[in-house]
Amino acid sequence: MDDDAGRNTDDGFAARLRRETAEAHGAAERSPFMEELLSGALAPQALTTFLAQVHQLYAVLEPAVDALRHDVVVAPFADDRLRRLPAVSADLRAHAGEDWHEHLVPLPATERYAQRLQEVAVWPAGLVTHHYLRYLGDLSGGQVVRRLLARAYGWPEAELRSWDFPEVPSPKRYRDHYRSLLDAAPWDDAERDRVVEEARRGYRLNEELFTELSALLPQWRR
Ligand code: HEM
Repeated sequence: MDDDAGRNTDDGFAARLRRETAEAHGAAERSPFMEELLSGALAPQALTTFLAQVHQLYAVLEPAVDALRHDVVVAPFADDRLRRLPAVSADLRAHAGEDWHEHLVPLPATERYAQRLQEVAVWPAGLVTHHYLRYLGDLSGGQVVRRLLARAYGWPEAELRSWDFPEVPSPKRYRDHYRSLLDAAPWDDAERDRVVEEARRGYRLNEELFTELSALLPQWRR
């Protein structure tokens, strides 16, 4: 496993984090909303509503990361190449039109998620946890989501920038690099436990968001 220089190890903290949140990830992943969206069965408003929620999350997360970009814990993770707000905004404009701002109506679950992001903005390890959840998610499953959406709806790639990282040529290599940053983060055992707990909480917040989106499915079925 260590044939690759600088590669994260199977028993590092990143591996533990992934292992101990696998169940929570699975629960967040299995949502009727995503399944139906990816099957190509929904009106475009489903995508717009989803992206409007994501926009509001990044609108809290990215300024919070900017504010702590010189913090010793946050600094290694604060990478401008990851920034999602311009891409999500561009997709919203493409799919909702010039008045896309009017679509930025938060669901209750989005408000709760954004509230938690605000709370962790003063806790560097907590902020990194949510950074990990969003960006590593976009760089993992998000890559599949993008391909499936393009295929199912015929949308051009230029209108699916939310999961496109033009400055990250290999998402796989970036994920390995990111895991080595997690392994190297200066956290003692108690802080690591809190990070795992926060990641589970973050997955639950995502799951609740998908549950609320799933409840809206009838209005988007064609
Ligand atoms: C739409 C449903 C989702 C699908 C299809 C999906 C799919 C995937 C896949 C295929 C991976 C790669 C697993 C691997 O490397 O073996 C992954 C990893 C990941 N996903 Fe998701 N995912 C979904 C939802 C989410 C959500 C809601 C979040 C949280 C915001 C999330 C966060 C992550 C993270 C952080 C990883 C990296 C785990 C690690 O290696 O440490 N995913 N996802």
